[in-house]
Amino acid sequence: MNHRSTRYAILGDGRLARHMRHYLSLRGVSCVGWARHADSDFNSVREGCAETRLRAVLADASHVLLLVSDDALAPLLRRYPFLHQYLLIHCAGALSLPGVAGAHPLMTFGDALYDLDAYEAIPFMVESGHDFATLFPALTNPHYSIATEHKALYHALCVMAGNFPQLLWQSVAGRLQDDLAVPPEALRAYLHRSLDNFLDHPEHALTGPLARGDTATMARNQQALGDDPLASLYAAFVAFHAQLPSADVEQKAS
Ligand SMILES: NC(=O)c1ccc[n+]([C@@H]2O[C@H](COP(=O)([O-])OP(=O)(O)OC[C@H]3O[C@@H](n4cnc5c(N)ncnc54)[C@H](OP(=O)(O)O)[C@@H]3O)[C@@H](O)[C@H]2O)c1
Repeated sequence: MNHRSTRYAILGDGRLARHMRHYLSLRGVSCVGWARHADSDFNSVREGCAETRLRAVLADASHVLLLVSDDALAPLLRRYPFLHQYLLIHCAGALSLPGVAGAHPLMTFGDALYDLDAYEAIPFMVESGHDFATLFPALTNPHYSIATEHKALYHALCVMAGNFPQLLWQSVAGRLQDDLAVPPEALRAYLHRSLDNFLDHPEHALTGPLARGDTATMARNQQALGDDPLASLYAAFVAFHAQLPSADVEQKAS
């Protein structure tokens, strides 16, 4: 099937559904949408109950993107078994579902939409046994194959790389602002440079007291954090760093 005959039905009206609809429309690919609530502006068909609207939306579809919450995927397929007549795709990073191709975009999707260049740079992790070109004939995104048994590990690593730092930054920025009247903006250059250094030279990017082995500074840091939960996170990172094979080398080099 070439991309001119590909017609997507997107199920769900959350963050990824809106981004995928926008991306596909920027590429000139035809899409219709369905959300479980009739009043959602995402719906291409607004009349009738959820199943009636779904059947109408599917009428001309070749591919169905199941972009609902992870926990809703299996119940949705049980509720509407006729979905299995279509080429089904889900985007959950950690899940594998029989009869549904998994294609996880390695990106964060919030409320703001992106431009075409940003969408085209997103790598897709395609569950082994499926072919990116069949799932998305019109797209040229980088893509990788990932074995079903590795999906949980893959997703755990994504969560740690992308979501956990957000929690850390939010807490640190909050304390800078609340305790020291330093605005979050003051972190901008530091965070940008840290990320660039990691992407350019990951093995040399770590600096600071852990890299130097400055134990007195580390102790002062943890004492200053007091009973803030950040203190236990600091201690966990010290312990994590200490068992890395690279920890010894960094300290000798610094
Ligand atoms: N956002 C990201 O950064 C991101 C990145 C990669 C992959 N993904 C994957 O994309 C998928 C969607 O995630 P999201 O972030 O877009 O979630 P989201 O913004 O929370 O939206 C979830 C959608 O699922 C719908 N839904 C929930 N339960 C449902 C049910 N029982 N029946 C029908 N629809 C139901 C919600 O409808 P209501 O509004 O009616 O509840 C909503 O439209 C997930 O598989 C996620 O793992 C997301």
